[in-house]
Amino acid sequence: MTQSRQWMRAGEDDVRPPTDLRTDIPHPARMYDYFIGGKDNFAADREAAEQALAISPEFRTGALANRGFLQRAVRHVAGQGVRQFLDIGTGIPTAGSTHQIAGEVTSDVRVAYLDNDPIVLVHGRALLEGAGQGTATVIHADLREPAAILANPEVREVLDFDQPIALMLVAILHFLKDDEDPIGIVRQLVDALPAGSRLVLSHATGDFATREQVERARTLYSGSAAALTPRSREQVTTFFEGLELEEPGLVTAPLWRPDAPAQPGDDRAPAWAGVGVKR
Ligand SMILES: C[S@@+](CC[C@H](N)C(=O)[O-])C[C@H]1O[C@@H](n2cnc3c(N)ncnc32)[C@H](O)[C@@H]1O
Repeated sequence: MTQSRQWMRAGEDDVRPPTDLRTDIPHPARMYDYFIGGKDNFAADREAAEQALAISPEFRTGALANRGFLQRAVRHVAGQGVRQFLDIGTGIPTAGSTHQIAGEVTSDVRVAYLDNDPIVLVHGRALLEGAGQGTATVIHADLREPAAILANPEVREVLDFDQPIALMLVAILHFLKDDEDPIGIVRQLVDALPAGSRLVLSHATGDFATREQVERARTLYSGSAAALTPRSREQVTTFFEGLELEEPGLVTAPLWRPDAPAQPGDDRAPAWAGVGVKR
């Protein structure tokens, strides 16, 4: 518990009670939690998640593969000496959050967790428990307001923008519609980072699904707190413009530097994943 307090140091005041969880509406964070076997979801989330699984069981396998990507990518960039993480779209805490994985690899890890679902703040204290020593904070913020994120005093208190930062946009950009300018938002955030920073990104795709499955999934999520916009490999590649993609490039999530032999179907998983370096 000493370590968890240490993690709490900068963030303690930031973990405020939420105003309204809106448990009557399915929320992507809680549906994702249900897919990966968590307990922090409500009837509306479970019902919508089951409907998604009826469209394709890939919702669950894809979510698990995505989580595996996040953890391998954090281990990888922390192993390269990156100690700071701006993790937007944190999700509900589950084993192996960013600061825990990074804290196993390096010391003095600094993490700013941001999410627009108030339930993530409810679990802030649990989120900040874990291995290693460092500083982390949980902030209620919206990716659609990048200028506010960059100016946020709590973000600035935890992260030093003169040192490399890993910007984590893992399984979040598909919740931004095209007219919300996701490419411009990523550009604005990346532009604020110093050389040596990383972009860790994964994104849902319908490249291997039928048109009908994609339409049914979009319709289902349109009734949730955030609409779903799956994108093609070509579209996801544009998020990395101006960055150098690390090996193996943009691949399906299970195939990004796997630590186990590939399984049949890994090359058709429903998420593209990659890590870009800012030179
Ligand atoms: C599918 S979960 C991914 C969680 C974690 N990044 C992972 O990959 O395991 C997507 C998260 O993004 C959050 N989210 C969706 N739209 C957002 C937005 N506009 N601003 C901030 N967070 C958002 C959701 O609340 C949810 O926690």
